[in-house]
Amino acid sequence: MYRLNISGQKVLSTSNSSPFSSITCGPSGRAIAEAIDPDLLNAVQAHLNMERQAHASYFAAAIWFAERELRGFSRFFRDESNSEHVHAAKFAEYIIARGQSVVLQVVEAPLQSWASPADVMATAFQMEVDVTASLQQLYSMAERVNDTRTTVFLDPIVEMQTQSEHEFAHLLGRVKFADNQAAALLLIDNELDQGNNKPASLQG
Ligand SMILES: [Fe+2]
Repeated sequence: MYRLNISGQKVLSTSNSSPFSSITCGPSGRAIAEAIDPDLLNAVQAHLNMERQAHASYFAAAIWFAERELRGFSRFFRDESNSEHVHAAKFAEYIIARGQSVVLQVVEAPLQSWASPADVMATAFQMEVDVTASLQQLYSMAERVNDTRTTVFLDPIVEMQTQSEHEFAHLLGRVKFADNQAAALLLIDNELDQGNNKPASLQG
């Protein structure tokens, strides 16, 4: 029989009546409130890595635009890249909160060559769609195993992700509309330099 000591490590309990004796601990010795389904945990770990992959991809896009003097686009992707890192951190925190250990996987070299700004935006939009699909998969897995903690954790993330898709679709549309014309791209670049990346608002 094990219990947690003051540093959170599993130690042999000398008394069966200790309140610690009934607490299950994770691989780092952290107390677990509710065990997480192993397949769901693996999927959460894989999703965390997908966010890190998105961080790398958007950093590559920020670099691509910086090399071409489009500083507004570069700034937009720099900020997106930073947000992806924050998303990965959220998942890491969640894994820890569930008493599990975070397993960081390999981040592949991101795509770094594109023919046009529209191609970069198309790649980015597709990445957003893929991230949403992965979140939806996590959500249904969590529902299947009645893991309410995970669905509650995912709710605001799914909402943010849907908003993000909307913004990327908007920017992709504007860049396509510019049709690779320098003057039009510079206008969009200027908007992005001022942090203006939101779709039209119809709610007044
Ligand atoms: Fe993300």
